[in-house]
Amino acid sequence: MRYRILLALTVTASLGFAAAFAAPVGYQLPEETAAFKPGAGLEVAQGNCTACHSADYIRTQPRGEKFKKDFWAAEVTKMIKVYGAPIDDADVGKIVDYLAANY
Ligand code: HEC
Repeated sequence: MRYRILLALTVTASLGFAAAFAAPVGYQLPEETAAFKPGAGLEVAQGNCTACHSADYIRTQPRGEKFKKDFWAAEVTKMIKVYGAPIDDADVGKIVDYLAANY
């Protein structure tokens, strides 16, 4: 008899415990940071520059006049020559223009 009461208490306690965990938990996702900025040529950059790493690699590069067209042309060339990115010659100019204009 004492056993049964103990069992009942245990079951009730477990149910209460489970109910506490089953309650819906509200949370908010952090703002997306690894996204390309909108702009002309976005699709070309997105299509060619996301296979190996996130857009954060681009977003976190230094800013300013020294880091415009030549800088991005060198980066894109490096991705192709050093890391073997399969990027079409015809797309290189579009990607460089997009990056220089938006980053
Ligand atoms: C074939 C895979 C590949 C593709 C595709 C690729 N990258 Fe990279 N990228 C790399 C690797 C590998 C690194 C170096 C990672 C590291 O050091 O942790 C890198 C690093 C970078 C960096 C950091 C600075 C640096 O020079 O290391 C930038 C900026 C960058 N990539 C831009 C681009 C852009 C722009 C494109 C599209 C044109 C692109 N990547 C496409 C492989 C790739």
